[in-house]
Amino acid sequence: MNRAGNLIGSTDLHDSLENLRNRAAKRIDSAESLEELAVIESETIGKKSLIANARRELRGIAPEKRREIGQLINETAKSLSGGIEIRRVVLRSMVEESRLREDAADMTLPGRIPLRGAPHLIREVMNEIVDIFVSIGYSVITGPEAETDYYSFTALNIPPTHPARLSTDTLYLDYGDTPEGVNLRPHTSPMQVRHMEKHDPPVYVVVPGRVFRRDALDPTHSPVFHQVEGLAVDTDITFGDLKGTLAYFAQEFFGAKTRVKFLPSYFPFTEPSAEMHAYANGQWLELLGCGMVNPAVYEHVGYDPEKVTGFAFGMGVDRMAMVRHGVTDLRHLFDPDIRTLEQFR
Ligand code: PHE
Repeated sequence: MNRAGNLIGSTDLHDSLENLRNRAAKRIDSAESLEELAVIESETIGKKSLIANARRELRGIAPEKRREIGQLINETAKSLSGGIEIRRVVLRSMVEESRLREDAADMTLPGRIPLRGAPHLIREVMNEIVDIFVSIGYSVITGPEAETDYYSFTALNIPPTHPARLSTDTLYLDYGDTPEGVNLRPHTSPMQVRHMEKHDPPVYVVVPGRVFRRDALDPTHSPVFHQVEGLAVDTDITFGDLKGTLAYFAQEFFGAKTRVKFLPSYFPFTEPSAEMHAYANGQWLELLGCGMVNPAVYEHVGYDPEKVTGFAFGMGVDRMAMVRHGVTDLRHLFDPDIRTLEQFR
């Protein structure tokens, strides 16, 4: 019965079709995938199947017999395609079930806790410093890290020959044909000038920010570090105001009993100038440079030096962060090692 001719010509046509149907039905019921079922479908009832061949041969059969045989063939085909559809539904649901099983989430597993960020030590200490000044009426401003010679030096009364301008000290940017040098600011003081240019006195501002100097990285130096600048300009501001304000700051930051001392110093943009040291954690620390704003700076920003007085200061944040947290090597603060950073959450 492997040729259609045999099928139709067989004496017991009914039995033959029955036989075909049984064998095909067995294959259909044991098909294990939708792909396998599709192959079986095309072989049993498809265009090149025995059933299809038998249908084609019907045309050559005597009309009296044709009806009966045709009916038989149709019934067989119908029953096979019904079986195929049922098997297809079963296989589809098996596929779906196994997909669900694979995708299933195990609700009893412990969750994965995402790494939570935290402010860096330096940022935290910087915020703490700034907050102390905000609490006594200062505003917070920030400015560009790439500066011009004018703001970094000239307007701050730093002469053209001053060593700070040398490329051994200051990092310069190659900025094409700019009329003056563009540097990575070596201090936050340029913002004194930028702020006074745009605002009339009284001025009470602090400037937190990143600064750059041509230093090699070692336990106490880094080419990138942080400062908080301060500027107070008003009428009748005295050196006593400077001392009182900065001593108050040190006591807020390190504790009420903290002692401070002022040593004479020199900065071109303040006159007189001083360094303030504070006694904290058993040692004297140089915290900041300061002084009364040099009248030469007022000239650059269009303030009348006869009418205003003021003081300025600039402190190093990184060293204060080290003292506050007992860090002995500055490089730890710039090391992106999560084990270091995690200790200070
Ligand atoms: N700009 C100085 C420095 O970087 C610090 C300073 C600021 C000194 C303001 C006096 C007044 O060393």
